[in-house]
Amino acid sequence: RIVFLNGSFLPLEEARVPFMDRGFLFGDGVYEGIGVLDGQLIDNDAHLERLERSLAEVRIRNPYSRAEWTSLQEEIVRRNGMAEGFIYFQVTRGVAERDFFFPENAEPTVAMFTQAKAIADAPAAHTGIAVVTVPDQRWARRDIKSINLLAQVLAKQAAKEAGAQEAWLVEEGYVTEGGSSSGFIVTQQGSIVVRPLSNAILPGITRKSLLRLSEEAGIPLEERRFTVEEAYDAAEAFLTSASNFVLPIVTIDGRPVGDGKPGPITKRLRELYLSMAR
Ligand code: PDD
Repeated sequence: RIVFLNGSFLPLEEARVPFMDRGFLFGDGVYEGIGVLDGQLIDNDAHLERLERSLAEVRIRNPYSRAEWTSLQEEIVRRNGMAEGFIYFQVTRGVAERDFFFPENAEPTVAMFTQAKAIADAPAAHTGIAVVTVPDQRWARRDIKSINLLAQVLAKQAAKEAGAQEAWLVEEGYVTEGGSSSGFIVTQQGSIVVRPLSNAILPGITRKSLLRLSEEAGIPLEERRFTVEEAYDAAEAFLTSASNFVLPIVTIDGRPVGDGKPGPITKRLRELYLSMAR
């Protein structure tokens, strides 16, 4: 596998990050993840815009222009011959003696890799997945795509140990989002319900495309918070993310959602998303 590190493409086995990297010591960095279908980057401009925002919010210099990022991404896809999967990349504040204050002269560390993965034909898209609810124990700036993912690691591991594939994070009785995805329900009346953007959730790029597609399809949308109880009583539920597109959720805390099978609105939205991506 060929990865990208600080200006060079090299075999994964040869890619080394210094011990004193602030990403390693402090989680002092941000990241992005982008879906690839038929060798094409999906919604890349929106992902790069979010990266620019994350970097500005944590005051790390953006080392590349949008055009430069895009050509690096296209090159890593090409060098790995990846038709379908995920591109991960992160920028940390760089290497310096351990000290909380920003270093004076550190260069940002840039790392990028690909993960080949079947997204369009993922088995979970047909069967649907299970989620369990867990307390949202993250920090107050979840709108920044920070590489600090300890709360998500713990939440998703708890979900796995409960036999589920994703955790739905809960704060004050309301679902914020998934451990690594945006969360949606469909009411018995057929409206999509999704939490509005704020510092409480990541502004999902797939979420944004999904909202545009549902509007074009004339599906009613309620942008508001929803409770765990409402999710239990929903007709359908689904998640979105760059690495999964749209995935049906068929149980929440072991209770079947609707008839316990992927719902018609979810299936339709997944089809619409796939035709947009292609
Ligand atoms: N996760 N919410 C959280 C907390 C996320 O980590 C993600 C993405 C999303 C969905 O955002 P998008 O549609 O832009 O991928 C929502 C990525 C895929 C990850 O960490 O692997």
